[in-house]
Amino acid sequence: MRSSPERSQGRNTRLPDARVDVAEDIATLRDRLRAGRGSVGLVPTMGNLHEGHLALVAACRQTCDVCVVSVFVNPTQFGPNEDFASYPRTLDDDLRLLGDAGVDHVFAPSVDAMYPEGRDGTVTISLPVLANTLCGASRPGHFDGVGTVVAKLLNIVAPDKAFFGEKDWQQLTLIRAMARQLDMPVEVVGVPTVREPSGLALSSRNNYLTDDERRRAATLNRVLTGIKTAVEDGCRDYPSAEERGSRNLVEAGFDVDYVAIRDAERLCAPDTETTSLRILAAARIGRARLIDNVGVEIARTSDRVRYAG
Ligand code: PAJ
Repeated sequence: MRSSPERSQGRNTRLPDARVDVAEDIATLRDRLRAGRGSVGLVPTMGNLHEGHLALVAACRQTCDVCVVSVFVNPTQFGPNEDFASYPRTLDDDLRLLGDAGVDHVFAPSVDAMYPEGRDGTVTISLPVLANTLCGASRPGHFDGVGTVVAKLLNIVAPDKAFFGEKDWQQLTLIRAMARQLDMPVEVVGVPTVREPSGLALSSRNNYLTDDERRRAATLNRVLTGIKTAVEDGCRDYPSAEERGSRNLVEAGFDVDYVAIRDAERLCAPDTETTSLRILAAARIGRARLIDNVGVEIARTSDRVRYAG
């Protein structure tokens, strides 16, 4: 391959004297290789489907020619004392819903089909430090299990787009980072959280709630939107807002794991460059560990200082 000034600028031009098409960046090469074939979308799930999952399916069907849904309760993302054995498995109902929703293919493998060499014999994706904060802090290894199974599903299906819910914000952020850093040829699409009228985010784990717990569970979203409103009204004392939110959840009967205000993309504490915040919480009520998050946009502190000056 000859080098040329054009090539070093990555313009992907057909060089006047070249006899082959030369792509100089990954996206261009992939676009060209895919030209002419229909687009494929993947919605990874663990089944026990509800309207939240179906929103991902609808987004997939809207933008892709072929819609694939995987249903697999992935053992490697559950800790030893978590609910892998009791996680609700409702494949017959799921298939009915997916058929009605117009899905083209369902991939529902066994554990052996996904991990023929066993858990310890399988390459593991180790996600960056972001995986150890928030939910990762109390669920060691959880996100490495998610990253590994999602990487496998993406390799199996080779979709153009993969759809994930904003409800699992940390998961969405980590999968975006994985796909970007490993140059996976897939666009990761985030879909807004679907909620009950009370504000409670739909989740398979809501099945674990009694009627009374379900009523109190709605406090989770109320607390997060309360913090959002306070930030919109100018509150920048994030630790105090987190503390207040946590207290409100305890009063509603939650055992609080965290209430955290973070930079939406980097998941670190907000700094002067932060313009998108994510307010996230995880808390237990009864048998269920519930998570939720909301977003809020703010002006960059460095801009405010500049304008004020
Ligand atoms: P699961 O909990 O079944 O969720 C599958 C997808 O549905 C995830 O992307 C999740 O964020 C999304 N989802 C769940 N509840 C939602 C709601 N109320 N609104 C919008 N989207 C919602 O997340 C997993 O499975 C697994 O970790 C998986 C990615 C499949 C890897 O095993």
